[in-house]
Amino acid sequence: ADPAVKIASVGGSAHPSIPLPRDIFPGRINSSGLDLADADTLAATSADILAFDEADALFGKRTTVKDAHDRYANVEVGALLQRAEVADGLAKLSVEDRAAILERLADLIEADRIPLMALCVREAKKTIPDALAEVREAVDFCRYYAIRARTDFAPVLLPGPTGERNELRLAARGPFACVAPWNFPLAIFIGQVAAAFVAGNPVLAKPAPQTPKIAAAAVVLAHAAGIPEDALALVLGGAEAGRALVADPRIQGVAFTGSTATARAIARTLLEDDSRPLVPLIAETGGINAMIVDSTALPEQVVADVVTSAFRSAGQRCSALRLLLLQEDIAEKTLHMLGGAMDTLVLGEAGDPRTDVGPVIDAAAYERLETYRQSQKARWVHALSTEHPGIVPPTIIRLDRIADLKQEWFGPVLHVVTWKAGELDATLAAVNATGFGLTMGLHSRIASTAERVACAAKVGNLYVNRSMIGAVVGSQPFGGEGLSGTGFKAGGPHYLLRFATERTVSTDT
Ligand code: NAD
Ligand code: ALA
Repeated sequence: ADPAVKIASVGGSAHPSIPLPRDIFPGRINSSGLDLADADTLAATSADILAFDEADALFGKRTTVKDAHDRYANVEVGALLQRAEVADGLAKLSVEDRAAILERLADLIEADRIPLMALCVREAKKTIPDALAEVREAVDFCRYYAIRARTDFAPVLLPGPTGERNELRLAARGPFACVAPWNFPLAIFIGQVAAAFVAGNPVLAKPAPQTPKIAAAAVVLAHAAGIPEDALALVLGGAEAGRALVADPRIQGVAFTGSTATARAIARTLLEDDSRPLVPLIAETGGINAMIVDSTALPEQVVADVVTSAFRSAGQRCSALRLLLLQEDIAEKTLHMLGGAMDTLVLGEAGDPRTDVGPVIDAAAYERLETYRQSQKARWVHALSTEHPGIVPPTIIRLDRIADLKQEWFGPVLHVVTWKAGELDATLAAVNATGFGLTMGLHSRIASTAERVACAAKVGNLYVNRSMIGAVVGSQPFGGEGLSGTGFKAGGPHYLLRFATERTVSTDT
């Protein structure tokens, strides 16, 4: 028997694969067959991805990406909700059936990794390693939620003095709206769907308008895995389609990942109609993520982790480093080394295996970031340059105070502020005062500093002496607090509970 299983949804951390005992993860969370172990595999994968044609038959010849997408292009939300409310197919499935379907879905995603990676590269402009990380995380979400569901949804008998049989059950809520961002168009999209479905809810899933084909492909696979047609539908479109979906009073819960502003808009929509039931909004949003570096830190490691955290995925991760807080004594040396490391980054096409930093998602994002970057030119510490269309050159901007950074700039733009010895607590307080609380990094070789920061930092995920991206499903539950999210954390042991409602059944014996 296999003594250990592996979780492999590592998106960039230094810990590629963590063996876990079977009693913690009794199922198989193992996407380690998905690998880019060496340059030859990377080159071959890249060639397969470039050769992929969206008109080719996909998924065991069941459909093409184009057909899957077109099928949902003009479907009415009202009609989809009517089917979802009945969802006969879903009603016949037990928790075990639903968990087994997620495990089949994980297998299908693994098997079709090349088309899925190709879509991530084309539609979401992912580099090849990022596209692979995306597929692995999607696989891990499916397997992890399958494992959790078997435990979480078993009825619990409650002992007590009443002399009755008291049973606590988790029940499905009803049609769930899952609204996803473009930056994890497969992993977050399928993670939301998997959680809502395995909890027993019919799902209406709305991907971002930038990435509809990836979502269509995922829905085809989900149906092929056994999610009934009436229990999962795709809603295509942008903000208006999303608004119309969450405004429908038949929706019994919303799982949203995206910007803080959109989360607020959804919260307002859910409260517009006074006759509507109160439904949960699970919101996972943005951050102004800081890394604190003190004078005891190991400079080479700091530099490597800053480059990964701030510039990998072209800075388009919610977890990405936005604000580097260097203790004054080591600031100039660290920035000098950082500039040198940035100069080695390869800026290029997303599908080119040599690329470290590819284009940002679309022309609007490019304009927004480039206008901001140019407006800060007098404050540049180091900036790369490129003629390549759509690529925002990685740039470091010096600020006087933490409070000068007013918003999340969702690209490869890093800000730096220095602090003096004795100002650690004030620095932490200033970061907390931004109101965001997603990720934080700390580089220090003083154990008590790590504990001090862990106690005081109001963030969902703190990373000590490592990079700040690539949370691993099941091991590093991910999600923020304050302006960064409502919880519970994705990929964590409590996440599924928000998708269900509790019922206590007391029977006289
Ligand atoms: P966004 O908020 O613009 O859009 C997200 C989704 O919401 C899209 O599907 C969009 O069409 C939909 N939408 C927009 N307005 C809506 C409305 N009024 N009602 C209902 N739906 C609506 O975000 P984005 O640009 O797609 O993604 C980037 C953002 O997502 C960043 O802020 C990033 O930090 C955040 N993000 C957070 C996490 C996390 O786990 N905390 C993960 C990934 C991305
Ligand atoms: N879960 C993603 C990460 O940790 C956002 O980078």
